Amino acid sequence: MTNKINNMAGASKAEEKKYLDLLAKAHAAKENAHCRYSGVKVGAALLGKKGGVVTGCNVENASYGLTVCAERVAIFKAVSEGYKPGDFEAIAIAASGDDFSPCGACREVINEFGDDITVIFEFRGEVVMTKLIEILPFNFKLEKCG
Ligand code: THU
Repeated sequence: MTNKINNMAGASKAEEKKYLDLLAKAHAAKENAHCRYSGVKVGAALLGKKGGVVTGCNVENASYGLTVCAERVAIFKAVSEGYKPGDFEAIAIAASGDDFSPCGACREVINEFGDDITVIFEFRGEVVMTKLIEILPFNFKLEKCG
């Protein structure tokens, strides 16, 4: 794991430590990846505001388009366990390669549960800590459309 921190989320030192621990959990979760087609292991660890952690990994399929990313596996697991929009504080995502950043589809799915969620990932030698809204500007909110 990289040590340099790009803390665009304005996290306190205590939060930085908490988010690095969450990133370590994402790294552990990536070891469960089912990724025989791409070979890219991805893990995600979601932190609930009450302190619970739910993890996920990418699950690929021979029919490639049926693949589900680690972030969405974690979120769908959490929702199936009772988590609601507004319940998440942070999501850390870790991949086997360098320069990982969450895909657009996953940004949109995270947005559904809160655009203030802190997102942590490793990119260009830095641990990036940012808010979802910073990586999904002009985000779509259905309730504001009607
Ligand atoms: N992947 C994720 O798990 N999350 C992302 O945000 C981007 C991509 C997975 C999907 C696929 O199994 C592998 O990475 C290569 O695209």
